[in-house]
Amino acid sequence: MLSAKQTRESFKEFFASKQHQIVPSAPMVIKGDPTLMFTNAGMNQFKDIILGNVPIKYPRVADSQKCLRVSGKHNDLEEVGHDTYHHTMFEMLGNWSFGDYFKKEAIEWAWEYLVDVLKLNPERLYTTVFEGSEAEGLERDNEAAGYWEKFLPADHILNGNKKDNFWEMGDAGPCGPCSEIHIDLRSAEERATVDGATLINKDHPQVIEIWNLVFMQYNRKADGSLDPLPAKVIDTGMGFERLCMALQGKTSNYDTDVFQPIIQKIAELTGSRYGENVQKDIAMRVIADHIRTISFSITDGQLPSNAKAGYVIRRILRRAVRYGYTFLDRREAFMYKLLPALIETMGDAYPELIDQQVLIEKVIKEEEESFLRTLETGIRLLDKKMEEAKAAGQNNVRGVDACTR
Ligand code: ALA
Repeated sequence: MLSAKQTRESFKEFFASKQHQIVPSAPMVIKGDPTLMFTNAGMNQFKDIILGNVPIKYPRVADSQKCLRVSGKHNDLEEVGHDTYHHTMFEMLGNWSFGDYFKKEAIEWAWEYLVDVLKLNPERLYTTVFEGSEAEGLERDNEAAGYWEKFLPADHILNGNKKDNFWEMGDAGPCGPCSEIHIDLRSAEERATVDGATLINKDHPQVIEIWNLVFMQYNRKADGSLDPLPAKVIDTGMGFERLCMALQGKTSNYDTDVFQPIIQKIAELTGSRYGENVQKDIAMRVIADHIRTISFSITDGQLPSNAKAGYVIRRILRRAVRYGYTFLDRREAFMYKLLPALIETMGDAYPELIDQQVLIEKVIKEEEESFLRTLETGIRLLDKKMEEAKAAGQNNVRGVDACTR
């Protein structure tokens, strides 16, 4: 069985063997693009190449990119912790072609990697192709469907609408039709009872998208119109944590070696066991997810603060503290103690975590302590208001009283 570390390496090796330049992840925090606070997709760092604003350095590139989807067009925050396959921060494995290969090779190599190299069972794989859009004047992507027919039976090639199969970076910017690869991880019995094709894009936790192949051909202008790009671009993104789940025979991203050391440490620090109580499990998943986001933000130079990107990070940290307070009875800072476990899972690939461990721990500890003080004060004030109301013979507190001292 491939470990997470080996999986990341195997992706890079595979695309290096197809003449791709392997590049480092760009920072997760973006400075200097007014349309975007955080990297939300692997293609962000290549936006200017895609638009033709800067010259192409390597026509073929691949990497593993740290992404954060907590604001703007791509925002998964509310799902995180409650389900088993969304994250705030995640790694996106991607390969790109800038004016070089296009749909045929992108599809053939995706298949070769998943089925021939990683040995995923092809019977569990499905793909979707863009069904077209009259409003945009775009036709069904018959070309992509034709390439998929070499590998998949017709009932595993499904049409998808503009929401799922026309990928856009934001309200404006590069975009194009896409083909997603989905995997059905349910048991054989469940698969015999309910056809996997009926569960694609239906929020089933074990029938999920793992890889998106975007065939970028347009630039969406601010007025909503589509301009052709100077060159056709392949932009793919595979959810690393989901791929690890599929390869490790798990049904939750949090059960893989990407998250288990962190979850086990949370369990140890809070005297709980993962898998015994639904609410506690959600809290542990929230904390395991958020510690990654906060730590990587700090290494990328974004400390929690009261404004803009810093405030997003502060709110994520506070979300984790609240879950710890409410469901795991944490009254003292503890998240900062998770750094060694995080380093165990990601320190090799991202040595900045090791280099900045002391700073990360200090910042998180201070933030936790300050927010816990705020929480305690707020709860004491609310208790007082409730007692006053009771003494006055009332059984409710006015909203305005609950919000003021
Ligand atoms: N840019 C594409 C995505 O993020 C690959 O899904």
